[in-house]
Amino acid sequence: MSGDFTASGSKNGALAIIAASLLVEGEVVLRRVPHIKDIFTMLDILRYLGVRAELSEDGTLQIDASNIVRNEAPAEMVKKMRASFSVLGPLLARTGRARVAVPGGCDIGARPIDLHLKGIHALGALVRNDYGHVEAKASRLRGARIYLDFPSAGATQQIMMAACLSEGTTVIEQAACEPEITDLAWFLRKCGARIEGAGTGTIQVQGVRRLTGVEHEIIPDRVEVGTFALAAANTRGDIFIRNAVPEHCSAVLQKMREIGATVDEDAAGLRVTANRRFIATDIVTMPFPGFPTDLQQPMGAVLTTADGTSIITEKVYEHRFRYLNELKRMGADVYTENRVAVIRGVPYLQGAQVTATDLRAGAALAIAALAAEGVTEISDVEHIQRGYENFEDKLRALGASVLSGEALPCSQ
Ligand code: UD1
Repeated sequence: MSGDFTASGSKNGALAIIAASLLVEGEVVLRRVPHIKDIFTMLDILRYLGVRAELSEDGTLQIDASNIVRNEAPAEMVKKMRASFSVLGPLLARTGRARVAVPGGCDIGARPIDLHLKGIHALGALVRNDYGHVEAKASRLRGARIYLDFPSAGATQQIMMAACLSEGTTVIEQAACEPEITDLAWFLRKCGARIEGAGTGTIQVQGVRRLTGVEHEIIPDRVEVGTFALAAANTRGDIFIRNAVPEHCSAVLQKMREIGATVDEDAAGLRVTANRRFIATDIVTMPFPGFPTDLQQPMGAVLTTADGTSIITEKVYEHRFRYLNELKRMGADVYTENRVAVIRGVPYLQGAQVTATDLRAGAALAIAALAAEGVTEISDVEHIQRGYENFEDKLRALGASVLSGEALPCSQ
């Protein structure tokens, strides 16, 4: 692969900020919103609630949540994507009541909502969780000190958003530090929220009466950047990713250098080159700034042909190894047990028929396919399209041979 492209706006960052727009009276204008299915799902939910939301071709999204007419998000929408559960806190804070179906999304392990509910309850809401729905009520939320047993990105965002319109001060301890959380806080502050400490383990929110509309640009998608960086490295290519923010991808870039890729950072973006067989390494996924679980699968695909044995320990989601069974069809030598995978590097993989079991698994299979001998046919590619904007077009523009259809045959 060779050439350059501009990173899309962050899927996870945009989803959180779109949900947060429910808190705002007046028009919010978001730039660089990616055209992907998960965003469309979130916009459908907002429209159902009565919000005006228009996404233009160039990624500008206008949202006006001045008139919310419903406070229930139905199961058929929420089940498509876990992130839609994040409307609970903003809807509750804004209207005094929210009823949201328990979420769906990629099947990558138990994805509980206990920390979300613990936070909302601590803010003074009456919370009921039955018949597949969560219902929360509070005439006005009040600030509280909340300790998260795990630094969950979703729970941190949920509590931070709800606390913005509460009475008094909220302190979130062991908060997640992901760049998407820092950017959400930055957006909310521009709208008038009083938030300190986002990006650290302790976030403090001083409630205000109302938030008003602003313009905001979504940060570049660090998972897309990491995925394409790994794809380029796996094909011994040379690409430049405009807009990439290296500090958002530090762990993966460091690991790429460790295995033998060259990564040059500058103010305009990232250049990735590679010209030799990689060396095996060990990976442990952790909350940010640790190695992101979302890039564990793309990295695992690269390690299948590295020289030596790599060990991956998945500490965030227990079912994120299913893609390795698919890579075995392509000749990978892999053993998994619970949260640990042992990958013995083979010289090369062979094209095969494989299935994308979830979003990042699909990306991992495409990365493997690009460097494999012969043609790989990936089915269930709608998982990839949920989260990567113009994935196939971007690969093609960088020189990959990608044929579209029901499945996605890939070769270099
Ligand atoms: C977000 C990202 C996802 C990423 C994940 C971890 C979005 C839309 N998705 O998901 O791409 O893989 O962060 O970086 O932003 N947990 C609980 N109780 C809860 C909530 C979470 O125990 O109430 C646990 C989960 O089981 C998991 C861990 O916390 O083991 C991390 O989950 P979390 O950070 O909440 O992930 P999401 O916000 O769902």
